[in-house]
Amino acid sequence: MGVVKRLAYVAAESTDLSAWRSYATDILGFEVGSDSNDRLLYLRADENHHRIAVRSGNRDDVGYVGWQVANSAALDAAAATLDAAGVAVARGTPEEVADRRVLDMLHFTCPHSGVRMELVVSPEINFTPRFRPTRDLAGFRTGDQGLGHVVLYAADLRAAADFYVKLLGFGISDFAMIPGVGPLAVFMHCNERHHSLAFMNIPGAPRRIQHIMFETLSIDDVGRSFDLCSDRDIITTTPGRHHNDHTYSFYFKTPSLWHMEFGWSPRTIDPANWTTEHYELRGDHAWGHRGLMEMV
Ligand SMILES: [Fe+2]
Repeated sequence: MGVVKRLAYVAAESTDLSAWRSYATDILGFEVGSDSNDRLLYLRADENHHRIAVRSGNRDDVGYVGWQVANSAALDAAAATLDAAGVAVARGTPEEVADRRVLDMLHFTCPHSGVRMELVVSPEINFTPRFRPTRDLAGFRTGDQGLGHVVLYAADLRAAADFYVKLLGFGISDFAMIPGVGPLAVFMHCNERHHSLAFMNIPGAPRRIQHIMFETLSIDDVGRSFDLCSDRDIITTTPGRHHNDHTYSFYFKTPSLWHMEFGWSPRTIDPANWTTEHYELRGDHAWGHRGLMEMV
C-alpha cells in the first residue's frame, strides 16, 4: 500500500462565502462548524472536523486538497521521496497545521494540475456530538475510504498518473478512452474506494477542479437530492450509473460553478490485487448521466 491512506479534505476558494454557507446546509446537508467565520467556512459531513473548507478569495476554484498519511514517520518518508524526485516540498507552519486541524503536514504543488496538495497526519476527529445532516439525508460513507473522490484537470494524463503512482503509491484503477483519440480520464485509488483521485484532459477547462463526490448511505439520498437540485435549477446531469465504479449518481453545481456528485452503492476494489482496466466512451456503454460529456 502507498503512503496516502485516504482523501481527508478539499478546500474551495470562493468569491461568495454567503452563498456557500446556505448551500452547505440547504443543499449538501452539511453542518457549518461553529468555528467558521466570514473568511473561512468549515463544512462537516461526518465525524471529521471538516471535509470541505471554503475560503474567501479572488476566484472560484479549488484551493488545496488534503491526503491523510499514517503518521509523522510516513510524512517524513513522503517528503524524502518527493524531494529526491525534484518536487519542492514544504512542512506546514504552526498556523497552517492549526488551520487544517491536523497534527502535522507538508505541501507541494501538483505539477500536472497546478493544485496545492497537502499530506496530513491525524485530522481532528469529533465523534461527539454526532454529525447530524441539516436536511433529510441518511448521511455519507467515508471512514477508511476517506471523503470520496476529487477530479482535477491535467493535460498529460499518463504523466499525471505516473507521478502519483511512483511518488505517492496510488494505483491506477482504469482509463476512460475516447475511441481513436486517447485517454479522456484516469482514475486512481489509494484504498478500497475505486477512485479517490482522477484527472481529466479537457483543453480550455475554466477551472482546475471538475467535481467532488460524496457517497451517500441511501439511494433515497440521491433521489431526494436530485429533486431538491432540480427545484433549485442547479443540476448538471441526470441520474445514471457509471461504467467504472458502478456508482448510481447525479451531478449538480456548487456556488463556485464546479460540481458536486452524490453517488450510491459503488463497487469497492482490492487494491493489492487490482489490475488496471480501461473502457471506451461510447454512447451505449452506460445509461443516464446526460450532460456529463459536456460538463466542465
Ligand atoms: Fe465522480
